[in-house]
Amino acid sequence: MVHNYFAMHGSKSVQALLLAIVVIGVSMMHPCKSLSTSSTSPSLCEFPAIFNFGDSNSDTGGRSAAFGQIGPPHGQTFFHAPAGRYSDGRHIIDFIAKSFGLPYLNGFLDSVGSNFSHGANFATAGSTIRPQTTIYYSPFSLKIQSNQFYDFHQRSQIFRDKEDIFKKLLPKAEYFSEALYTFDIGQNDLVASYFPNMSIDQVKETIPDMLDQFKTYAKSIYKQGARYFWIHNTGPLGCLPYVLDGLPLTTQMDPTGCAIPINELAQYFNFGLKKAVAQLREDMPLASITYVDVYSIKYDLISNANKYGFIYPLKACCGQGGKYNYDSHKGCGARFMDHGKEILVGACNNPLVKINWDGAHYTDAANKWVFDRLADGLYSDPPISLKRACYKY
Ligand SMILES: *[C@@H]1O[C@H](CO)[C@@H](O)[C@H](O)[C@H]1NC(C)=O
Ligand SMILES: *[C@@H]1O[C@H](CO)[C@@H](O)[C@H](O)[C@H]1NC(C)=O
Repeated sequence: MVHNYFAMHGSKSVQALLLAIVVIGVSMMHPCKSLSTSSTSPSLCEFPAIFNFGDSNSDTGGRSAAFGQIGPPHGQTFFHAPAGRYSDGRHIIDFIAKSFGLPYLNGFLDSVGSNFSHGANFATAGSTIRPQTTIYYSPFSLKIQSNQFYDFHQRSQIFRDKEDIFKKLLPKAEYFSEALYTFDIGQNDLVASYFPNMSIDQVKETIPDMLDQFKTYAKSIYKQGARYFWIHNTGPLGCLPYVLDGLPLTTQMDPTGCAIPINELAQYFNFGLKKAVAQLREDMPLASITYVDVYSIKYDLISNANKYGFIYPLKACCGQGGKYNYDSHKGCGARFMDHGKEILVGACNNPLVKINWDGAHYTDAANKWVFDRLADGLYSDPPISLKRACYKY
């Protein structure tokens, strides 16, 4: 069996859709601290756990556990083996966990070898905010992820009380209010609507419902004690090879080569998400909520790739064929027969200078670059760094 994302799916256009990325949303905080205006600089936040919600952009093994392991060459640069991530290495969420001295998060769905004492990851590749009716996306929409979190919260405490071994595998009760909750989700909803048959305007009409559902599940997580939220907006989808490959040739492109209408759609969603976050600040008065403009960081990286030491920002490292080194029939890790010989679609020579890994996801090097900017607060609203995300402004 081919352990490949594409292998599970049918038609070509659908395969392109499958690459859909999972957006992770996390929020982090410690019991309500208020930033005083005094000149003494407040101490850094120490989150004892992280709970993450999202799509493939932050999936650390959920989809693999549910549907079969992601195969090589995924994971090759950092983990030296497939590691449940659509990347050659780490996702942004991995760098976030590491920056707090926490272990990488295990997927909630992963029953083998997982240790949830410092958090859990509910993200799965293909996840959307709104449940999808097609089989091409993940069944683990944000609603399901928030239900799973509820279940995890309740049951982890029952088991901790029952047996000592679970005290070393499951979070302490107080961690649920002290943890950082991260979110990165929404990209797949946009792509899932646009590609099969909707116009940009029709996709825009679905956004209010996406945002309503996002608020509903953020509030459900808040009601269970979450206080520190860290919410990523969605990236420049119009710069991703799997999206570019599926667009009509008449699509307007910007000077970087990204699709203008698709990036405008992403920005339109982000504008709404920022307003939804403002609403959440009113609805969740005890929470500290940081909105992070991942779009601008990624767009800066892609449009100034050479300046930052990267090359060919619109070409997948792992892939083959066409203008974007991407073919939905022969995606990263796919095996196919050519003149009686089996060919594996493998990686480029130097993933360290590439931004895009497999057509839909970022390389370890790009994710690290994005994390370094995202952590310092310049792209956050309010403008606070990751290490101060437990403060309320
Ligand atoms: C789970 O991870 C925590 C933190 O790294 C560690 O203290 C604990 O011993 C681990 N549990 C087991 C059973 O190894
Ligand atoms: C798109 O296709 C779906 C499924 O075939 C259908 O339910 C929907 O009404 C279509 N939407 C538009 C705008 O054509």
